[in-house]
Amino acid sequence: MTRDFKSTFGCHSTPFTREIRVDELHDIVFHLAARDNIVRAIEKRMSAALISGPGSGKSTVVRSVIARLPEARYITHYVKCADIGKRDMYREIACACTVQSTGSFPKLLRRIQEKFESSLADSGRRPVLFLDEAHELRPEVLSMLRVLTNFEMDSKLVLSVVLAGQVPLAKLLSQDDQIPIARRIIHYATLRPLSRDETAKYVEYRMGAAGAKSSPFDDASLDAIYEIARGNLRIIDNLALESLELASAAKLKVVSAQHVAAARRAQWPS
Ligand SMILES: Nc1ncnc2c1ncn2[C@@H]1O[C@H](COP(=O)(O)OP(=O)(O)OP(=O)(O)O)[C@@H](O)[C@H]1O
Ligand SMILES: [Mg+2]
Repeated sequence: MTRDFKSTFGCHSTPFTREIRVDELHDIVFHLAARDNIVRAIEKRMSAALISGPGSGKSTVVRSVIARLPEARYITHYVKCADIGKRDMYREIACACTVQSTGSFPKLLRRIQEKFESSLADSGRRPVLFLDEAHELRPEVLSMLRVLTNFEMDSKLVLSVVLAGQVPLAKLLSQDDQIPIARRIIHYATLRPLSRDETAKYVEYRMGAAGAKSSPFDDASLDAIYEIARGNLRIIDNLALESLELASAAKLKVVSAQHVAAARRAQWPS
């Protein structure tokens, strides 16, 4: 985005980008509820799943869960599972549990066991493994986790896993091989799309977070954004940003429904 663009709308930074800091997130009530329920599952030494469509806010909720877990009590490890293989999963589990990675799974399990026998006594920090885009996991890779999540030491469960992914993750977890891991999941969270009113508040918030004193989007433009995006955060972001650019290029300070319609055509030419 050019300097002109930002100055047109009084922004100090680009609005609607992915790189929003956790402490700058908009309070979306059902996102906060999902975050808190996942944190509670972790506090109970259990696992959780967050399942919803693309661009609905899963990775952002995962980041906000990580930010809620005190470093003194938890070791968090975040992995994006785009087609992760068995070997890579060993490495990620080893890393989550802060042990050296080894060639075989049984060896790795022994290392982790030894580590927890000694470390529960001293620091007592529990590992939490976050697997984002978990619908991409191969079933045999996911089922490896069952050993660790069922693993009891001093009657304490060692590893919590948070699986975040799109709807096919629910199907993956319902397979027979995954029953042991599914049993450890005590909370299934989902994220619905925003309503018309929530969409308007979100757009206004993100403009404010980027420094704008007031939102340039008129009511009809918000209706248009809602009609196209149907409350999907990623689509709202893309449409809103493109609409701002188009309004700015036309030297206008107000974003109208026409800009939104043109933004849609620019992004999804039919
Ligand atoms: N609470 C929030 N406050 C502000 N922006 C948010 C919030 N939640 C989500 N977003 C915005 O919505 C966008 C989409 O969210 P996110 O990337 O978390 O979705 P996702 O479900 O992980 O998507 P994908 O399925 O593509 O991985 C983010 O880039 C971010 O800009
Ligand atoms: Mg994501």
